[in-house]
Amino acid sequence: MTIDRKCLINWVGGKRLLRKTIAPLIPEDIKSYIEPFGGGAWVLFYKDRWADLEIYNDLDGRLANLFRIVKYHPNAFKEEYKYLLGSREMFLQFLNGTFITDIQKAVQFYFLITRSFGGRGETFGTVKRSSGGASKSQRNVMDKIDAIHNRLDKVLIENRDFEKLIKQYDFEDAFFYCDPPYSKGCGYEVTSTENFDHERLREVLGNIQGRFLLSYDDSPKIRELYKGFEMIEVERLNGINNKQGTSRENKIFKELLIANYPIKERHHAG
Ligand SMILES: C[S@@+](CC[C@H](N)C(=O)[O-])C[C@H]1O[C@@H](n2cnc3c(N)ncnc32)[C@H](O)[C@@H]1O
Repeated sequence: MTIDRKCLINWVGGKRLLRKTIAPLIPEDIKSYIEPFGGGAWVLFYKDRWADLEIYNDLDGRLANLFRIVKYHPNAFKEEYKYLLGSREMFLQFLNGTFITDIQKAVQFYFLITRSFGGRGETFGTVKRSSGGASKSQRNVMDKIDAIHNRLDKVLIENRDFEKLIKQYDFEDAFFYCDPPYSKGCGYEVTSTENFDHERLREVLGNIQGRFLLSYDDSPKIRELYKGFEMIEVERLNGINNKQGTSRENKIFKELLIANYPIKERHHAG
């Protein structure tokens, strides 16, 4: 049986479909690997180790708590999780947030995200054919928690705003993979699409000593903001719109990969 230990959760905007394109663009000669906008950390988990120092960060405290509990208390997490049922009633109960400890908070958050439609934690996800959503295997979850616990062994987990984090960990051999909220699309618990300050991120990234790779939606605003940096256009299938009958145009989502070091050559070689 193979367990997909390459991820903990499906997260809105998660880089599941782009991770194979992004990974070869990450330089080998880095001393630290940092994800300021961690989310489900698909790129971090893609490899067993990126650098001596690895940092996962997200401003959403529910994510930082989940990652910390899986890192430090995997057995307590599994003990709490094993009594949960794939039931709509339990889902609705957790939506109202009745946890007491950080371990319960992590388990309930994980339950809501993995049992909901599109990983949004809002509506109970039902499936007709596969064994995902509400019918997820309990045993696979236990194995996954162990695998992710091992992967996080040396990963530092932070819960800060990107600016403080980037400035704190920046040095010439540092590498930042940045996957901020996009300029269009859905927002997050910690920031709506309209409120995220893209100019502030540009200002911070423009002044770092280390290297960065940035993924964004392909929009005139972002192209203008990062004029002068190397950019690659990539296309991926839009997961949510990927139903039968949807036109190819609506299925395709265009994104940009932007960096302050040469990536075009690596992309073409890959
Ligand atoms: C596009 S998602 C990251 C997805 C991730 N790369 C993955 O593979 O799952 C963007 C993340 O940025 C976080 N975020 C939003 N504003 C932030 C801020 N000011 N500082 C740090 N993180 C922030 C959100 O909570 C969200 O999880």
